Amino acid sequence: MSRAFAYVILGGGVAAGYAALELVRHGDGVSPGELCIISDEAVAPYERPALSKGYLLPRGAARLPAFHTCVGANDELLRVQWYTDHGIELFLGTRVVSADVRRKILLTANGETINYKTLIIATGARALKLEEFGVSRSDAANVCYLRSLEDAHKMEGVMRSCHGGNAVVIGGGYIGMECAAALVANEIKVAMVFPRKHCMDRLFTPKIAEFYENYYAAKGVTFIKEARVTSFETLSDGKVTAAILRDGRSLPADMVVVGIGARANTELFDGKLAMEKGGIKVNGRMQTSDAAVYAVGDVAAFPVALLGGDVRRYEHVDCARRTARRAVEAIMERSDGAEERGEKGFDYLPFFYSRVFALSWQFYGDNVGEPVHFGDFSVSSGPAGARPKFGACWVSGGLVAGVFLEGGSREENEAVASAVRSRARIGDMAAELESRGLAFAELE
Ligand code: FDA
Ligand code: NAD
Repeated sequence: MSRAFAYVILGGGVAAGYAALELVRHGDGVSPGELCIISDEAVAPYERPALSKGYLLPRGAARLPAFHTCVGANDELLRVQWYTDHGIELFLGTRVVSADVRRKILLTANGETINYKTLIIATGARALKLEEFGVSRSDAANVCYLRSLEDAHKMEGVMRSCHGGNAVVIGGGYIGMECAAALVANEIKVAMVFPRKHCMDRLFTPKIAEFYENYYAAKGVTFIKEARVTSFETLSDGKVTAAILRDGRSLPADMVVVGIGARANTELFDGKLAMEKGGIKVNGRMQTSDAAVYAVGDVAAFPVALLGGDVRRYEHVDCARRTARRAVEAIMERSDGAEERGEKGFDYLPFFYSRVFALSWQFYGDNVGEPVHFGDFSVSSGPAGARPKFGACWVSGGLVAGVFLEGGSREENEAVASAVRSRARIGDMAAELESRGLAFAELE
């Protein structure tokens, strides 16, 4: 069968949901029958961050439809009915297996062809597998990854069967940290194994990492740093019972959670579109090297105006939402000015965040230059129940390049964001920051 649409969104994750809403809202909006979304997931677009937070809570866990897009940005909740009401076709459980950008045709695994006039690629990223590092057993019944709702469903079931038991978490990045917190909340003992000196070392300074490591340790998490899992002990049914480290140590495991990084899903377009930074290269309008094709979210590498047009690819939800909106704006306006051609880059302030236990941090900008720490880094300081508040400001050439803030209020986070956006100048920065902390953002 062959179908044709004016607009096709390939991928059904965060960016897809935000792009669909924007297409409907923009100007006269898309007409019924003009737009389809093709996703190999079985459900309509949802807020993926909920999978490692609300979905895994031991009580009052979040379930669909409550976290479909676009609730994460405090916007409309797009249930399946919303797509029907707007004449948007949702091809769910449908995998695209090849793309012909010259003829503007996508081929699905069921043999259907879908023609487009304009294509928005929103294929996101996938979890790296242990097999890519020479370790087998990813398919064991008690080895969990966390990228999709299906993964979260599996992990939740495995956790339920491991109450009071031991989990080995492989990886000390976002998934490792967020899943370790969820496991502790579900009363499972956690050993976290990763090859680096500190957790989250792509973003955290050693001092910041130490705070979280001490905080987690106080919750019973054991950190096994500068170590690698090289194999598993298994039962005859393949179920893992222990993780074996390179130095021969054996860690008991009733379950394993793997978070060892992600790779952008670009393969359909390899050799067909320009690539950069492990993703599909776009201009500041999110337009690829083919004028009819846009790319958004985790898969898009775009020039960031704030960083002098430097090309970056972010694997974070705010970026997925904003690049989706940017692409739709560009598609609908099709203006030709220099700004609109996207030559200067997209006016985007990089923003990441995480919430674990009672903690909550935000980061804005770029972690380049010298980090200067401020605030109180002691885990148990202050009156019982007091939230820690501390951070770091990366200073480059006397200007604020990026700021990390744990425990900030909404107003403080907003002030930090605007200090980074305006590239505030710091005078005698080290002394000033260390003594005045957040005052540099004119909060006090
Ligand atoms: P996303 O991965 O959301 O969607 C891609 C979609 O394309 C999927 O539906 C996929 O199945 C589909 N697809 C891919 N190839 C296809 C094909 N060939 N055919 C059909 N469909 C195809 N970020 C943050 O800033 N704060 C946070 O707290 C979190 N928390 C978090 C938790 C967890 C568990 C994960 C996995 C990730 C986060 N993130 C996050 C990251 C954030 O979720 C991520 O950046 C966005 O989901 C990216 O949105 P995209 O739409 O680009 O990809
Ligand atoms: P990551 O890149 O954040 O962390 C990977 C971790 O695995 C690092 O600690 C790294 O040192 C370690 N590692 C790498 N190879 C290893 C190996 N062979 N053995 C053991 N450890 C190894 O990736 P992730 O945590 O898997 O996250 C996957 C994706 O999900 C990323 O795109 C991330 O941005 C996204 N995510 C984001 C958030 C957030 O923004 N709050 C939350 C969850 C997931």
